[in-house]
Amino acid sequence: MKEISNSIFNLLSDFILKKSGLFLPLSKKIMVMNRLKKRADELGFESIEDYIKYAIKEDNTRENFKIIGLLTTGKTGFFREKEHFNILLNNILPILFSKKKTIKVWSIGSSTGEEPYSLGIMIDMYIRNNFINGFFSILATDINIESLRVARDGVYLEHQLSGVPDEIRDKYFIIESMKNEKSYRIRSFLRDRISFVFDNIIDSKIFDIFDIIFMKNTIMYFSTEKREVALNKVYNSIEEGGYFFIGITETIDDIKHNFKRSGFIKVYTKFQ
Ligand SMILES: C[S@@+](CC[C@H](N)C(=O)[O-])C[C@H]1O[C@@H](n2cnc3c(N)ncnc32)[C@H](O)[C@@H]1O
Repeated sequence: MKEISNSIFNLLSDFILKKSGLFLPLSKKIMVMNRLKKRADELGFESIEDYIKYAIKEDNTRENFKIIGLLTTGKTGFFREKEHFNILLNNILPILFSKKKTIKVWSIGSSTGEEPYSLGIMIDMYIRNNFINGFFSILATDINIESLRVARDGVYLEHQLSGVPDEIRDKYFIIESMKNEKSYRIRSFLRDRISFVFDNIIDSKIFDIFDIIFMKNTIMYFSTEKREVALNKVYNSIEEGGYFFIGITETIDDIKHNFKRSGFIKVYTKFQ
């Protein structure tokens, strides 16, 4: 596999930074080549460089999205970073539902849907178990069109549900297929509460205000400037007294922001 030149790598890196916020240093060259090789072969390009030139052309929207998708990671899972779902259930939902009937949630970088569905399950369980006259809606956004398609479909293989307790699986999923590995579909009453929308957090077209925002494991590889842009957008999109969750292993201490610590791990609030 012929190595891509630094000048082409820099063109790609500038493109990805501008379009997604992701910062790709030169040290990631081999990783980038490994991720792009299959697609370059599939489309019949002689070299990865030729594929990059084709994929980053301004008028090649379809491939623009494809290459961004290949270079960003979509790793996720149901109830990933479980402590956050426990904090939500035991601490945050009681506070929010004591103040209002309807709760609005935004999952930014929702990938293939496991995060917003887990949020929906938690909130629905809380409402039912506490006999609350409450309602919720969830907006889930991502820049990966393929991930959004999987998320909207809401069908997952049995191994993808390994973090889901049996009683939750029985209540919120129905068996879709028994072929090879079993697959499960999210039940429509939950599916209908969640909207999956394409949106780029560094150039967001969402102008709603939310009570809870999850932006976990999404801006961790962004440049400092783009992380600031994303945080500012979140700050302006959250209610006074709302809650903002970041990934357990990430930090926002190194960037300018106006959030206050909530006292819960990697959960912030907004109070003027
Ligand atoms: C590692 S996944 C995290 C999924 C989920 N939040 C979690 O923690 O399990 C990161 C997701 O962020 C999305 N993403 C990357 N850049 C983005 C951007 N500029 N705007 C919106 N989503 C973005 C990726 O497509 C990917 O689906």
